[in-house]
Amino acid sequence: MPNAFRNIAALLGVIVAAACVGACGKISSTDPAENIVLTTQQLAMKNYAQNCSACHGANGVNGAARQLADANYLASVGREALINITTNGVSGGFCPGSGPASLAQWDAKQVADFVDGMLEAWGKNGVALSIPWSVKLAPAGNASNGQAVYAATCQSCHGAPNFKGVTGAGSVTDPNYLRLITDQGLRTAILFGRPERGMPGWSGPFPHQAADRKLSSQEISDVVAFLRSTASQKQ
Ligand code: HEC
Ligand code: HEC
Repeated sequence: MPNAFRNIAALLGVIVAAACVGACGKISSTDPAENIVLTTQQLAMKNYAQNCSACHGANGVNGAARQLADANYLASVGREALINITTNGVSGGFCPGSGPASLAQWDAKQVADFVDGMLEAWGKNGVALSIPWSVKLAPAGNASNGQAVYAATCQSCHGAPNFKGVTGAGSVTDPNYLRLITDQGLRTAILFGRPERGMPGWSGPFPHQAADRKLSSQEISDVVAFLRSTASQKQ
């Protein structure tokens, strides 16, 4: 798939380069390997395919890590935080980042161009949530309140915390899983869901959000605190 994607991107690059001579202002970079001129968006998609798609999915969906091709998600996180994560990865998590300290070693301009290109490709008309995406801006969570929220909103798909059988969506109280995901990752999952896999988000007026029940910023913090508390319990 990355190869097919690359070929399509290259083909589009040729078409746009040919059609835009002297006419388009968006051409920003050449790709020495292919000797064609790419727009910011095309270059970002090429860099995405090479540096992010293995985990976040081809074309930004359906990877092991969350979908990035989601305009409301991108609007809620915002350009500044996207630049920070693309540079440094997720603190305490397994997103490697692509900045100077990573294997990709993009400089600040390459990171900013990448984020701008990604926003052009996937961020059009995104609506930001009215409650914060960042755990740093979220209220502290209360695990016992979160247990009740979990039972009411999560258990039907993910199973009771101590349930050992197979559930439709798999366990999110598995301590090994919880060791691999940060509190930010859990908050993001609850805010936006995994729409491409059938998990609704719980917080916004978006098409894939749960219609009958919205969670407040506090309730989301509470569920995260509850999930975290299950990781230290003997299973
Ligand atoms: C309608 C069913 C449904 C409900 C209700 C639901 N989920 Fe999910 N959830 C899913 C599915 C499906 C997935 C994707 C599983 C996969 O990756 O194949 C998922 C994935 C997740 C993930 C992993 C996200 C990621 O990025 O990999 C977390 C964490 C999670 N859910 C937590 C919750 C919590 C907490 C609640 C309650 C607030 C909840 N879910 C409610 C269906 C549901
Ligand atoms: C090795 C796999 C891997 C690669 C490669 C990778 N990521 Fe990630 N990414 C992750 C994981 C895992 C998380 C969840 C981290 C957590 O919170 O536990 C994540 C989280 C993120 C988040 C934040 C999700 C949230 O919680 O809102 C963004 C944004 C992101 N990645 C962007 C990128 C970009 C852009 C690239 C390429 C430049 C990239 N990632 C490459 C694995 C990867």
